[in-house]
Amino acid sequence: MIEIIITAVWLMLPAYLPNSMAAVFGGGRPIDGGRTMSDGRRMLGDGKTWRGLIAGTICGMLLGLLQMYYLSKSSSIFGVDLPSFGEGMGALLVIFTLAFGSLLGDMSMSYFKRRMGYKRGAALPGVDQLDFVMGAWLLTLITSPAWFLDNFTSGIILTLLIITPLLHFVTNVIGYHIGVKNEPW
Ligand code: CTP
Ligand code: MG
Repeated sequence: MIEIIITAVWLMLPAYLPNSMAAVFGGGRPIDGGRTMSDGRRMLGDGKTWRGLIAGTICGMLLGLLQMYYLSKSSSIFGVDLPSFGEGMGALLVIFTLAFGSLLGDMSMSYFKRRMGYKRGAALPGVDQLDFVMGAWLLTLITSPAWFLDNFTSGIILTLLIITPLLHFVTNVIGYHIGVKNEPW
């Protein structure tokens, strides 16, 4: 039980960090450039910025590199064997798609939220907690299918679907109270 949770979180760390770091470093020019669609609403909204996207991706990748460094010294943590992101360029690609894919997933959902009339920051339970997970999985599955299917077994995926909303809730409440997030979700 603990073992599968540690393994699952380890695999997802490069995808978890970008969202928080986008909230910390985000701001400035919105990715949609302020454009509105024919429905009169913003394409993505002011909550999706270039700075958030770039800083988030870089932070997620740095954490992944740190994890790879850790793996070069030790293959386990708290007695649990850790999975690797692969070798060489393959590992870099995995770390990149986990980080960038998570923000891409979050951004795609903002597009649909705007089309459904939800304002920036409006809560959409379930979607807010899992959009970034889906984005990270999908982009990584497309670009590194063998690695993905080896590591994201059905047990790991189920574990992540359960614990991610909990982790997301805790980090967002913290983010709200330290002032980097406008809403606690
Ligand atoms: N952020 C950013 N760029 C991104 C993603 C997030 O700058 N690509 C920052 C924004 O300041 C945003 C905050 O992180 O307000 C929290 O992210 P999120 O909850 O995803 O955005 P919301 O403001 O809730 O906007 P939306 O309704 O579109 O999800
Ligand atoms: Mg939000």
